[in-house]
Amino acid sequence: LALLPALMGLGYLCGSWLGSLTVCRLAGVGDPRYAGSRNPGFSNVLRLHGMPLALATLALDAGKGMPVLWLSMLLGLPPWAQGLVGLAVLLGHSYPLWHRFRGGKAVASAFGVLLVLVPPVALLCALCWALLAWRVRTAAVASLSSALLAPLLSLWLAPDYALVVTGFALLVLARHFWNLRRLRSGDEPGL
Ligand code: G3P
Repeated sequence: LALLPALMGLGYLCGSWLGSLTVCRLAGVGDPRYAGSRNPGFSNVLRLHGMPLALATLALDAGKGMPVLWLSMLLGLPPWAQGLVGLAVLLGHSYPLWHRFRGGKAVASAFGVLLVLVPPVALLCALCWALLAWRVRTAAVASLSSALLAPLLSLWLAPDYALVVTGFALLVLARHFWNLRRLRSGDEPGL
């Protein structure tokens, strides 16, 4: 547990790396922070540049927290402490040090964190996200629904992690404040 602050710091720094910016720079296409929803994440890269670059973004954003989470598990940290390391990754993605604390909505990075900590919850949430995105064609509806589902699934499938997963969900919900307002006014862009 003495290593928890260091692991959280490492998690925050890894989270601060925005996959979409690297992918778009390497592909030579426009920065997602300046077009579409202006969110540097999977959905906006999909909207602007198509599925291959969106999937690359998803892989980087979901994967970036995994090494530090595996390390936390290997070191035998209890579930709540692993959860704090995961939360640090999500805070890094949402408020990145390198980008004047203006980051994304932590959906893909939360998926990656859940995939390490509670894989069945991650997979069921991903299924929910994909089904809703396909049917409703609105990323935020899929993300908000998955964020509400995750704590309930954790309570059922991995109760030790339910509290930390609730924390992740609250952060994701808070990061969708403007999406919620746009959904209410009918101005939310589709996928
Ligand atoms: O994954 C983020 C999503 O929930 C919303 O993204 O670009 O539609 O605001 P966006």
